[in-house]
Amino acid sequence: MLTKIENLSEYFLAYEKSIANPETFWERVANQFFWRKKWDRVVDYDFEKAEVKWFENAKLNITENMLERHLYTIGDKPAIIWEPNDPKEAGITLTYQQLFEKVCEFSNVLLNNGVKKGDRVIIYMPMIPEAAIAMMACARVGAVHSVVFAGFSSSALADRIINCEAKVVLTSDGNFRGAKSIPVKAVVDEALEKCTTIEKVIVVERTKTEVTMQAGRDLWWHEETAKAEKTHKAEVMDSEDMLFILYTSGSTGQPKGVVHTTGGYMVYTQFSFQNVFQYNSDDVYWCTADVGWITGHSYIVYGPLLAGATTVMFEGVPTYPDAGRFWEIIDKYQVNQFYTAPTAIRALQAYGLDPVLPYKLDSLKVLGSVGEPINEEAWHWYHDHIGKGKCPIVDTWWQTETGGIMISPLAGLTPTKPAYATLPLPGIRPVIVDAEGNELKGNGVEGNLCINFPWPSMIRTTYGDHQRCIDTYFSTYKGMYFTGDGVRRDEDGYYRIMGRVDDVINVSGHRMGTAEVENAINEHPLVVESAVVGYPHDIKGQGIYAYVICDAEGRTEGSLKEEIKATVNKIIGPIAKPDKIQLVTGLPKTRSGKIMRRILRKVAENDTSSLGDTSTLLNPEVVEEIIKGAQ
Ligand code: WT7
Repeated sequence: MLTKIENLSEYFLAYEKSIANPETFWERVANQFFWRKKWDRVVDYDFEKAEVKWFENAKLNITENMLERHLYTIGDKPAIIWEPNDPKEAGITLTYQQLFEKVCEFSNVLLNNGVKKGDRVIIYMPMIPEAAIAMMACARVGAVHSVVFAGFSSSALADRIINCEAKVVLTSDGNFRGAKSIPVKAVVDEALEKCTTIEKVIVVERTKTEVTMQAGRDLWWHEETAKAEKTHKAEVMDSEDMLFILYTSGSTGQPKGVVHTTGGYMVYTQFSFQNVFQYNSDDVYWCTADVGWITGHSYIVYGPLLAGATTVMFEGVPTYPDAGRFWEIIDKYQVNQFYTAPTAIRALQAYGLDPVLPYKLDSLKVLGSVGEPINEEAWHWYHDHIGKGKCPIVDTWWQTETGGIMISPLAGLTPTKPAYATLPLPGIRPVIVDAEGNELKGNGVEGNLCINFPWPSMIRTTYGDHQRCIDTYFSTYKGMYFTGDGVRRDEDGYYRIMGRVDDVINVSGHRMGTAEVENAINEHPLVVESAVVGYPHDIKGQGIYAYVICDAEGRTEGSLKEEIKATVNKIIGPIAKPDKIQLVTGLPKTRSGKIMRRILRKVAENDTSSLGDTSTLLNPEVVEEIIKGAQ
């Protein structure tokens, strides 16, 4: 592979070249792909207007690069290995040739059901092969997919459908998760009561739970594919045509639809996949994420399949039927690269070594971590007991908005350091700024992490509201993309991500806006006001701590708290349920009426020795009460 970096000095050289001459660097990477027409210009940008174009006027279809490009050479190689929730059920392997046929077939199903280039299609599905097939079929016909994590509630699903004015929903009857079978289609039905744009719902039969099918709207996946043509010619797309929308939380308001486009995303996801994981042609790679998150998009589906890799897709959970499930799957498929989240490592670590010991784990070459800072204890456990001390850990820092991995070791090449994401990938220019936006140069500095030059897979807009994209990412510091993360660059020039500096919390690797959780809590009729902060949580990384003012109206504290949790569950989903709720009579506010979150965070962290100056508060007396009632 032309652009696979094979040793550390090559990395430094590639990095240098990518900075000195980004156009030549990325052109060389892009030349490996199949383009219907090449670009007129490699990159053009204006960060003040949040305008970025890569491979301008080039024409392509990303799925021709994931499928056709590989058929003659590796058509019989497994593309997707699917492992079901129940280890007793047979798995499914799809070769590149088989995957190609399924994607073509489903592309025709989309066309038969009125989906046209540019239409938005919602994918609300469990981790089954059809989810990946659906994403690729959308890309193939030029429709824009928006995958919504199947753990989101009907109301969260409806918000997303309404925001992007989707035409079709692709879903399943139900979802097997551990010992449970969860309804999925029923959630869609409920969501659609509030939506007016959906014309068709196509349902995969997975759990065989009973569902209601609305005549004229709802169709079965297997019936539609049975009558579809088996060949399909990919739609020709522009490099900057929208590939997908993925909703993510921010510090204010409703989740925003992060938009990624075609050409740059393709080039960067394959490039980063190959280099970070050092994938070799016979390797089996497994990322445990869900396709509902960006990790699933870039590093289960797009990056690996672009690279011609074998990618494992797992339907279930790490603890079913027991806490050895991950390790069993690694041995079963002889997984070489394993990519998971710190929260999963910490959760499994809590079971001790008994679930690990029955497995050899000797196929492993590389371990990956993503989604949140990995604490040193978890890093060492992962390194010693899973990697047996011989697998490099790639701690990969990136975001939904960045589309691909930005700061990470290249496996086996970059010397690692626990809890450090280490060095930027070629083409990535991190800068650290202080609160005023002054760049902190040199090593041994800490501040806010920005990126001051475009990279191919970066966010292009927030769907339907470009101003929001400018305001959120490009206005805080002029001329730079602001990540929302705090970072330290140590004496060796290595980056360590310190966590969010805005009102976003990271719960088990899932991003939650405090405002979003507060809005959900406030939906409870007795709630007057609430304030949500994150606090350190042993397994989840951060837990959700909610301070709530409400009228008890005869209810007990316990039942009120349960009702509040149920409300959040209904509005967003189980992942947003507060871990701790403290009922209070007031919230500490400044004279201008702003909640002093700093104080609430300190109390939630159980660190009340250094509350700082509270004398400027409108209601200093409330602080005492809050400290006394801390959970
Ligand atoms: C936020 C982005 C990127 C895919 C999964 C999450 C945090 C992500 C790391 C890491 C420390 C990390 C950041 C970032 N984060 N990876 N390796 N070390 N923090 O995507 O939901 O868009 O969240 O996750 O705070 O801003 P996301």
